[in-house]
Amino acid sequence: MLYLWQKYTAMDNPFILEPYRSKELFCDRETESALLLDYLLNGRNVTLISPRRLGKTGLIYRVFDEVKQRGLPVETYYADISSSSCIEDFVQLLSESVASVLARQNRMIELLNALKGIRPVLGYDPVSDTPKLSFTYQSPEDKRLTVKALLSFLENNKRPVILAIDEFQQVREYPGVEMEALLRTYIQPLHNVRFIFCGSKKHMMIDMFTNPLKPFYDSTAGISLAKLDKDIYGRFILSLFAAGGKSISPELVDDIIRWTRDHTFYTQFLCNEVFRISGSVVEEEDIRKAKENTLASNLDRFLECQRLITPGQWKLMKAIAKEGEVRHPTAADFIQKYKLSTGPAILKNLKSLVDKELILADIDGSGVVYCVYNVFLSRYLEAL
Ligand SMILES: Nc1ncnc2c1ncn2[C@@H]1O[C@H](COP(=O)(O)OP(=O)(O)O)[C@@H](O)[C@H]1O
Ligand SMILES: [Mg+2]
Repeated sequence: MLYLWQKYTAMDNPFILEPYRSKELFCDRETESALLLDYLLNGRNVTLISPRRLGKTGLIYRVFDEVKQRGLPVETYYADISSSSCIEDFVQLLSESVASVLARQNRMIELLNALKGIRPVLGYDPVSDTPKLSFTYQSPEDKRLTVKALLSFLENNKRPVILAIDEFQQVREYPGVEMEALLRTYIQPLHNVRFIFCGSKKHMMIDMFTNPLKPFYDSTAGISLAKLDKDIYGRFILSLFAAGGKSISPELVDDIIRWTRDHTFYTQFLCNEVFRISGSVVEEEDIRKAKENTLASNLDRFLECQRLITPGQWKLMKAIAKEGEVRHPTAADFIQKYKLSTGPAILKNLKSLVDKELILADIDGSGVVYCVYNVFLSRYLEAL
């Protein structure tokens, strides 16, 4: 075990800020990764939903790594479509995902053959160090056929395929094409390809997969990713500090988790900063300084955010930040305490802030809970 840690600690901060590096640096998610893999291996497609920055993408890579470690005869593909705004972008990102795997296997020629009706041109992106296909379309039909051809290629792959499409709700934004209906039609007959549809916009994802009027209705098993268990995360953080040659008290770890509201990205970030600035014994002062540094390095972003919304919206965000979470935003005591405007104006501002993803509207057993989405912005507002 010690050996495994040593290879990271010599020169590296163990608190990763990318979705996944290795099992050792990834906290828990044992139940979720086992369930996700089990569903896929039993022939089911899966929807994976949670707010942003909680660990969906990391979980997908954890599962892909598990497939590799166990030597399962399955190929894994990952396409992040968050930057796409039309079907051409979708084709581009999907083809890059497929090409990056095939290039490593020296099988690009197979892909080019499968797509020869569409005559893609093979290039190379020196920045991402991956092959790049460019397509010229004669007609809108060509674009749809390219999606179909890429999926058929995976269907005809010798080994079964898992294809993860990240931020899947983005397909709703494509103009001039019923992308959900199109994909459902192409995906339904596939036997060799299992899908992970991953998404951060809960209401859209729920609508896509549980509304009887929508093409993907009832076609997947759902996994809703929650926050990490606080005790498990606390022990994980303690062990990574120890493995990095630093000691920290459980009380200070609790403070980190509390201040970052155990929202994984923010917790990892603060741990990374504490690790960076501390000596062999982490002091309370290091935690204070790490919080201060973190807010200071984000200040420009916060001010830009203030500039982009109305004073009324900013005031409402500040009130929500000071409360931590709010269940009844139009309640008289909340309005009075923060001298907010009328109920209807609050609801209008709230809707706008939720649409901009500045406020998270999460649903739990007792209804909707509102909080400032970005935990660091929330801590900044709270102190104003
Ligand atoms: N299980 C985990 N262990 C350690 N860090 C994690 C874990 N899950 C997520 N993270 C951290 O949180 C960040 C956000 O995770 P990510 O998978 O990108 O979230 P999402 O896809 O839900 O937006 C990652 O960059 C990583 O730093
Ligand atoms: Mg993600």
